[in-house]
Amino acid sequence: MLDGGALTARLAERRDGGADRDTLLRAAVEGIEAASDRYDWVGIYLLEDGELRLHNYVGEETEHTRIPVGHGVCGTAVAENRDMNVPDVRELDNYIACSLHTRSEIVVLIRDRETGAIHGQLDLDSDRPAAFTDEDEVELRRVADWLGRLFGDV
Ligand code: SME
Repeated sequence: MLDGGALTARLAERRDGGADRDTLLRAAVEGIEAASDRYDWVGIYLLEDGELRLHNYVGEETEHTRIPVGHGVCGTAVAENRDMNVPDVRELDNYIACSLHTRSEIVVLIRDRETGAIHGQLDLDSDRPAAFTDEDEVELRRVADWLGRLFGDV
């Protein structure tokens, strides 16, 4: 099970040691992915010039390195300004399949701490249906909130 508090404490230590934002975003993805067998693909997309761009990931390679706002689960989360927990991706019309094995997906937005503006998102896929629990949402939200602080001046 992901412990968002423990992960962000480790990230904070690395930041204090001088790690830059890209390194911390990578470490966050690796830390989340290692936390549960239910997490088959974990990545961070950043919102840049009006589209989502894949920053880094662990899991099967994907061709979806850029996703327009409004497309797929990822782009819908931004367009509707909300997190998404999709228990069955097969029921979505505009789902963008990264892997044919994926059955459920969760997107948690990374927001600016001060303004609430969206900087990006955590995106997790699972090969299991309805893999993501309320507890996952809470822990991922902790990590996303911490990451949001890294974008202070953007
Ligand atoms: N499934 C996502 C696309 C990203 S992949 O899961 C890595 C979507 O529908 O937006």
